[in-house]
Amino acid sequence: MTQELRVAVVGAGRMGTDHIIRIRDRMQRARITAIVDIDEEKARTAVQGIEGAQVYTDFVAALESGDIDAVVVVTPGFLHEQVLLPTITKGLPVLCEKPLTPDSESAWRVVQAEVQADAKLVQVGFMRRYDAGYREIQEAVRSNAYGELLALDCEHINPAVPDSYTGRNLIDDTVVHEFDGVRFLTGEEVTSVAVRAGKRTPLAKEGLVDPAQILMTTESGVRVSVNTHVAAEYGYAVTTRASFVNAHVAVGTDQVTPGFEERFVDAYDTEIQEWIDGCLQGEVTGPTAWDGYAAAACCEAGVRAVENPGTEVPVKLNAKPALYS
Ligand SMILES: NC(=O)c1ccc[n+]([C@@H]2O[C@H](COP(=O)([O-])OP(=O)(O)OC[C@H]3O[C@@H](n4cnc5c(N)ncnc54)[C@H](O)[C@@H]3O)[C@@H](O)[C@H]2O)c1
Repeated sequence: MTQELRVAVVGAGRMGTDHIIRIRDRMQRARITAIVDIDEEKARTAVQGIEGAQVYTDFVAALESGDIDAVVVVTPGFLHEQVLLPTITKGLPVLCEKPLTPDSESAWRVVQAEVQADAKLVQVGFMRRYDAGYREIQEAVRSNAYGELLALDCEHINPAVPDSYTGRNLIDDTVVHEFDGVRFLTGEEVTSVAVRAGKRTPLAKEGLVDPAQILMTTESGVRVSVNTHVAAEYGYAVTTRASFVNAHVAVGTDQVTPGFEERFVDAYDTEIQEWIDGCLQGEVTGPTAWDGYAAAACCEAGVRAVENPGTEVPVKLNAKPALYS
């Protein structure tokens, strides 16, 4: 067994830099051997202080270098597939920041590539699965400690979003975390999505429903509501209140931070360390390409729901391949 994982990080932007610093300074049993960014200057800045790491502007050159055991993809979502497919073909594990890809059709191609390779190599960066509070709720659901789970009431508050942010971004970039979170907490697929609009904040982007309420149902009928507010200015907050038959469990309610990096720092650290240790054991244990595909299918329903407030839109999923059972 390899004792130290040699990692290539593709994309040295905001999140990529966060992961590079994390692996460089806090992770055990891994070192960065390649940083890839189409913007060479960004890669050169990010590589400073990392002994022996090479800079690339082309991912394939890094992949062919023979100097990497695993890949972390942190480019914009529409570019993930072009890194994932050759990495799967090469048989290397890859942690792909969310979203897996921007739509279910391309996500399904990634699933099919894994089925073809008969190997689960992709892990999607749904870090909430590594948050202590989320794990507490999931454990309560799994153990039936308080009886059946009846409802989840969530909040997702962002201090600001870019000018280009639209209703599609609300779903694909923001609520995508709740889609996966709900699937993780309940162990069920989301079956439908609806959106309710209400009073808008005076700070809302033009044409954007803000705040919005996203409603979901799951296979067994767990009712989910997610209140989003993405021009909140006062900070970042993510909360979940799980109502069981005999108790409720609330997480994140007293945490308002400047951004997601501070709110989920421990979750990101646990996510990456567990991924490294899994890779060294030859297995990928976190959210799979199937989870990424299912989240993409939820997002497609969500975007239609944003465009048609008040309409319940069903989530359409292909049959789950045996590889993910
Ligand atoms: N899990 C989370 O909480 C979380 C939070 C933020 C971002 N993300 C995800 O991380 C990813 C990156 O987001 P970001 O905010 O860091 O974006 P960013 O724009 O800050 O960084 C993207 C980087 O990719 C580089 N890049 C673009 N095309 C490339 C190519 N062909 N090859 C190599 N590099 C290329 C860019 O030059 C840039 O440095 C997205 O998928 C995003 O959704 C996840």
